[in-house]
Amino acid sequence: MMDDPTPYKDLGLVNTREMFKKAMADGYAVPAYNFNNMEQLQAIVIGCVESKSPVILQVSGSARKYADPSLLPHMVKGAVAMAKKMSGSIPIALHLDHGDSFELAKDCIDSGFSSVMLDGSHHSFDENVRLTKTVVDYARERDVTVEGELGVLAGVEDEVSSAVSHYTKPEEVEEFVGKTGVDSLAISIGTSHGAYKFKLKPGEEVPSLRFDILEEIEKRLPGYPIVLHGASSVTPEHVALINRYGGKLESAVGIPAEQLRRAARSAVCKINIDSDGRLAMTAMIRQVFTEKPAEFDPRKYLGPARDELVKMVKHKNINVLGSAHQA
Ligand code: G3H
Ligand code: 13P
Ligand code: ZN
Repeated sequence: MMDDPTPYKDLGLVNTREMFKKAMADGYAVPAYNFNNMEQLQAIVIGCVESKSPVILQVSGSARKYADPSLLPHMVKGAVAMAKKMSGSIPIALHLDHGDSFELAKDCIDSGFSSVMLDGSHHSFDENVRLTKTVVDYARERDVTVEGELGVLAGVEDEVSSAVSHYTKPEEVEEFVGKTGVDSLAISIGTSHGAYKFKLKPGEEVPSLRFDILEEIEKRLPGYPIVLHGASSVTPEHVALINRYGGKLESAVGIPAEQLRRAARSAVCKINIDSDGRLAMTAMIRQVFTEKPAEFDPRKYLGPARDELVKMVKHKNINVLGSAHQA
């Protein structure tokens, strides 16, 4: 038997509409931090409450499965209560990251998500429009916001030219937004997912994001919220700690903070960060395991990992995205 739908407002959540309006007006980006487990959720909420930032709690389809679809809304409801107790509350959205089907998006909306992404970027333009529109139609009636995507984020590319062909085509954005009615649009301007975003030769600098494409999109969609995926900086300090304590992350490299600051001041209203959180936690867990090999209480390694993630979240909100003191 199907469970009754849980409207996100019952969980104390908000959709992203007002968040983006304010971020656009005041020139910052709202952080979207991915999580899979309790410690990550706690750290994200604590970090955002302590820096007084709005936050988008972001869950991929596989993360939702990992946490369990029935348990997840209860965890998030608890996180909202924790934020309220700590601070008198910050705006919190729960967002499906890279949804790949109407069924998944619907299931998330019915279980309390306030925002969903339909990532149809691997399909043809027409199929992307069709699929995204089915989700928008369902979401709109429930006041849930929808993110679409145009352009494909490159993986690690050997050839710059092969990355170029995946960039968002500015001439497509008005038609896509007009036909689908999405509330925000993820674009591809040179970021990519994971910890290996560029293959650099010795002495070579990280290339600039394609701000020219972003500017062209801003001209075509004035005042419209843009989303940046694959925006981890792959914090060198955490990579170094991981390698020092037995890890093996060779030539991991991310997006420099200065480029993200520039994006956050533009129409980019949402910046997605997953890998940096994974690296922060892994660095601390490796350190504890190496320095205290007799330790076997999970709180003794997940606790320091959580503390490090709180620090990272506050640093991003204050120094990179500009979302601190905006809640
Ligand atoms: O963009 C993808 C996110 O980093 C989530 O990754 O599917 O491993 O949870 P995941
Ligand atoms: P990173 O791998 O750069 O953290 O990107 C995360 C992301 O885009 C989630 O959708
Ligand atoms: Zn992504």
